[in-house]
Amino acid sequence: MSIISKDISKAVHLLQQDDLVAIPTETVYGLAGNIFSEKAIKKIFETKQRPLFNPLIVHIPNKEYIAQIVSEIPEKAKLLAAKFWPGSMTLVLQKKAIIPDVITAGKDTVAVRVPNHPVTLELLSKLDFPLAAPSANPFNSISPTKPEHVENYFKDSIQMVLDGGICKSGIESTIIGFENNEPVIYRLGALAVEEIEKVVGKVAIKNKSEENPNAPGMLAKHYAPKTKTILSENVLLDIEEYAEKKIGVISFKTSYTSSKITTQIVLSIKNDLAEATANLYSAMHELDAERLDIIIIEKMPEIGLGISMNDRLFRATH
Ligand code: TXA
Ligand code: MG
Repeated sequence: MSIISKDISKAVHLLQQDDLVAIPTETVYGLAGNIFSEKAIKKIFETKQRPLFNPLIVHIPNKEYIAQIVSEIPEKAKLLAAKFWPGSMTLVLQKKAIIPDVITAGKDTVAVRVPNHPVTLELLSKLDFPLAAPSANPFNSISPTKPEHVENYFKDSIQMVLDGGICKSGIESTIIGFENNEPVIYRLGALAVEEIEKVVGKVAIKNKSEENPNAPGMLAKHYAPKTKTILSENVLLDIEEYAEKKIGVISFKTSYTSSKITTQIVLSIKNDLAEATANLYSAMHELDAERLDIIIIEKMPEIGLGISMNDRLFRATH
């Protein structure tokens, strides 16, 4: 029997019983549990096989709720929250003492966001605790953008995926921390840098954990398909290089004609970066299930969401 269900009351009940529920958000599906339940949080780390040094994002029902989670809000954080919540932006701020150490991996900061999905906003409004929710995938694998992706990963370990359809933006939230009250991007994501800069001016980007101890979990290798995958600046050339192999191609807007391609997915024929972002992980899931020898993914244009996609693709192919 499928674990995918639209029953919000059932989700409420499971979460109140310290159980996990996979929840829809506009970015990717999350594996959610009560932030105050030691049992639920332990289950999240076990289910994902996630190392304990990697802290979790706290999901809250509305922007006012932030006052219960964090102790200080820099002016620019207020501006960003006012503009982008509910939405695909996570803020890392000084935590209040009530936030358990397991959530923050012992750090004195906590990551928090108001997701922009009607089903999960309704769910959160019915709970008297926030939800910790990492992306609902095993550690290092591709994040889920459809309920079926989560079911394939976790049907034997969780009881329910709350069905909210396909994730509209399709890539994880942009994470913003604050250093001396100035915003710093710790993870590129669904909210483009250009949009953030319209609100707070130029922001620094420290997107690599090697250079940023404030952003644990930003591992060089991440989001990886099981099939060998390469990031390509010249798809036709790479097809020739692997001509003897069973090739899958994921391209931005171009449909390549070559008899050597077994399967091809074009992310946005109409040249739209938001549409391409929404389709990217799904395309990776699909080709990864096809027993190809190699997946060639075309590098995206280095602008707007293309920069966030290239970040994930670089990690997927590292
Ligand atoms: O779009 C998203 O953000 C999704 C949906 C479900 O909300 N969630 C998600 O969570 O991507 P996860 O656990 O896969 O990624 C959370 C990232 C990790 O890289 C973690 O290191 C970082 O957030 N993070 C969490 N707390 C932090 C903190 N206090 N300081 C710096 N980075 C933090
Ligand atoms: Mg993740």
